[in-house]
Amino acid sequence: MHASDPSSAFDVSRLRDQAHAFLEQWAANVRKNGPSRCPSARLQEIETEIERTGTYMHTPEELEFGARLAWRNSNRCIGRHLWRSLEVRDCRGVRDSNGVEEALRAHVADAWGGGRIRSIITVFAPRREGEPDPVRLGNHQLVRYAGFRRPDGSVLGDPHSAAFTARCLEQGWEPTERTAFTPLPWEIWIDGRATPPVDVLARHPELLQEVTLSHPDEPKFADLGLKWYAVPLLAEMALVIGGVIYPCAPFNGFYMETEIGARNFADTERYDVLPRIGRLFGLDTSSDRTLWRDRALVELNRAVLHSYDAAGVTIGDHHTLGAQFEAFCKAEEQAGREVSGDWTWLNPPISASQTPQFHRSYKPDVVRHTNFFYQAGPDGHDAKATGSPSTAAADAHRQEEARRCPYHL
Ligand code: ARG
Repeated sequence: MHASDPSSAFDVSRLRDQAHAFLEQWAANVRKNGPSRCPSARLQEIETEIERTGTYMHTPEELEFGARLAWRNSNRCIGRHLWRSLEVRDCRGVRDSNGVEEALRAHVADAWGGGRIRSIITVFAPRREGEPDPVRLGNHQLVRYAGFRRPDGSVLGDPHSAAFTARCLEQGWEPTERTAFTPLPWEIWIDGRATPPVDVLARHPELLQEVTLSHPDEPKFADLGLKWYAVPLLAEMALVIGGVIYPCAPFNGFYMETEIGARNFADTERYDVLPRIGRLFGLDTSSDRTLWRDRALVELNRAVLHSYDAAGVTIGDHHTLGAQFEAFCKAEEQAGREVSGDWTWLNPPISASQTPQFHRSYKPDVVRHTNFFYQAGPDGHDAKATGSPSTAAADAHRQEEARRCPYHL
């Protein structure tokens, strides 16, 4: 769309403002190895490009700094003190499904790093107004377990994946087996159209790195048959840099143990394994008041840390990451930059009061010009309430929720 079109005037001025804000934040972060160019000269150049084309292109250096800054601006992330370590891959020119698959296979392999997990982001082409997104992924994460709904309504595997699993099966996915831990195929969208799901992890088993769970002093724990994948690799969020939207920019960090031990396995809506752990440890499960759930949670989290450590796979714990994040906040304050954050997410789901996060508050402002955002799925629907049917009423409700959510595009 051309900038002289009055209907786009607002968007164009917003783009210019956001580009400006991004360049300012860059300049504020310049250290001796920072960019040498004066932000106002670059802003002039960007304004001219926006006038002419309706948008602007980032230089490779802007893309790199921008992706790192987006991580740093992610209010809900406890690991963002590591923001400078993010490795940024520029795949803006990759626009066919084979190329996308290849780039993502390389991402998954390199992120694994033999257990020494590397934080990487692969950035595909930006969104252009009035055009379908050049590249999108239907997956929530690149490695994720399927959830097969049984006739009685229960789910084999991860209930969080139930809706997406059903869609893959409809699109012709033939899983080699159906277990509680069957990895999902990849659904790559090109120019607004889904390509058939590809079972990349079945074809390339070396990309599927997992950790089998055992407990440091209860040998019977292994009989639960639990395992989880090594690398969390989020595929559905949009990266925004200086107002430019990259709708496909999958990224990974490494896990904090509570994500697995206090949520994925413990939520009653997910794998719901606490009752089995309670029985295994002979806890009195007759009443919640015995705190058997709390005790089972601690044992499960010990098992997660023990197992990832024994396997040589990077994993954080809430005490260490909590202390590191607090040190980062203090250093930033010293430098005159108050770190914004989301208290409800920065606190871990167990033992929150034992971390520094519990005892302070965070400025809740969400930086809009450069950040990661939730967005509607590649089919245009907001899938936040996973598994729920896509009725008109449910859709309208989700849209309203999205509109109010500061972390949504
Ligand atoms: N909580 C999500 C999961 O359990 C992963 C979110 C991103 N986590 C991370 N450590 N970067 O799969």
